[in-house]
Amino acid sequence: MKLLVTGGCGFIGSNFVRLMLRTHPDWSIVNFDKLTYAGNPANLSSIEDDPRYRFRRGDVCDEAAVETAIGPGVDAVVNFAAETHVDRSITDPEAFLRTDILGTHVLLEAVRRHGVTRFLQVSTDEVYGHVADGSSHEGYPLAPRSPYAASKAGADLQVLAYHVTYGTPVLISRGSNTYGPYQYPEKLIPLFVTNLLEDQQVPVYGDGLQVRDWLHVDDHCRGIEHVLLHGTPGHAYNVGGGNARTNIEITQRLLTQLGKDPQRYVRHVEDRPGHDRRYALDSAKLRTLGWSPRVDFEEGLAQTVTWYQEHESWWRPIRSGAFADYYRAQYASLRGAK
Ligand code: DAU
Repeated sequence: MKLLVTGGCGFIGSNFVRLMLRTHPDWSIVNFDKLTYAGNPANLSSIEDDPRYRFRRGDVCDEAAVETAIGPGVDAVVNFAAETHVDRSITDPEAFLRTDILGTHVLLEAVRRHGVTRFLQVSTDEVYGHVADGSSHEGYPLAPRSPYAASKAGADLQVLAYHVTYGTPVLISRGSNTYGPYQYPEKLIPLFVTNLLEDQQVPVYGDGLQVRDWLHVDDHCRGIEHVLLHGTPGHAYNVGGGNARTNIEITQRLLTQLGKDPQRYVRHVEDRPGHDRRYALDSAKLRTLGWSPRVDFEEGLAQTVTWYQEHESWWRPIRSGAFADYYRAQYASLRGAK
């Protein structure tokens, strides 16, 4: 199988590329990535000399560049390319509309022209919005509540419309909150771990009782692989970890592992605007096809913390660059939570 992976230098994309080359000796992968702030070629340094791997720099919104990347002979396209951070979508929504919606459209058109046999859209549980109780299955109404989630929902709807209108062989995976090695340190877990490793406080939004369902990145990648190989075109599949935890529970675990006193290191700050209180995914549809998560959450989280401890050379350059300006702008003006 010859795959075109977009956004393969990001967190989930790079873990996916590495895992697929490891598990499928007969696969080859072209990685098409714009290298935005979150795309890091260092994530793939271990495979850059693998003859089955090729990198091409480009933007999914650029039709000509996509046309060249897709070339002849691509069997499947897996679209990881996206702006993904909710807080950034609140301050700069336009970038999300461009990459997440327009970029997906450009890819769908290229897939249609080239008769590619599988197009997999990597989506998110955030398209269902806040889930007050129970869990969201794939038929649940889409009710996104942040510019990020709305951009992903817009892309999902386009993808499904291409199936109905043109018969494009599309698939959608909707993953829950993902953690593991190589995650850019703006997201909860890597931000808090690297803050603590730098002996700084961690900013918990509001009361910290928001609930997320945590999924190890390897389980997420195996879920995407499973959808790609066994999914039915025109369908979406939830990929949930089944590890519902409040943010404060996560914070406590990180503080304990790193030996930090909660009184001193936790700072409750004002809440994220429109903050979704709870996500919960029903992944029965994908489980019926034979996928299930393998990584125990407590073990996976502890290993992830250790990974950041052992890979300072990966995150220190990130934290000292443009990230430092982002961090100041995002957090400096936040008041303490009431
Ligand atoms: O659910 C899947 C989604 O999970 C993905 O589609 C998104 O790309 C990914 O960013 C993530 O969205 P969240 O907004 O849930 O992730 P984040 O790591 O930003 O925040 C997780 C929770 O932690 C959320 O309730 C907000 C809270 N939080 C986050 C940050 C960055 C804090 O309390 N303080 C913080 O500084």
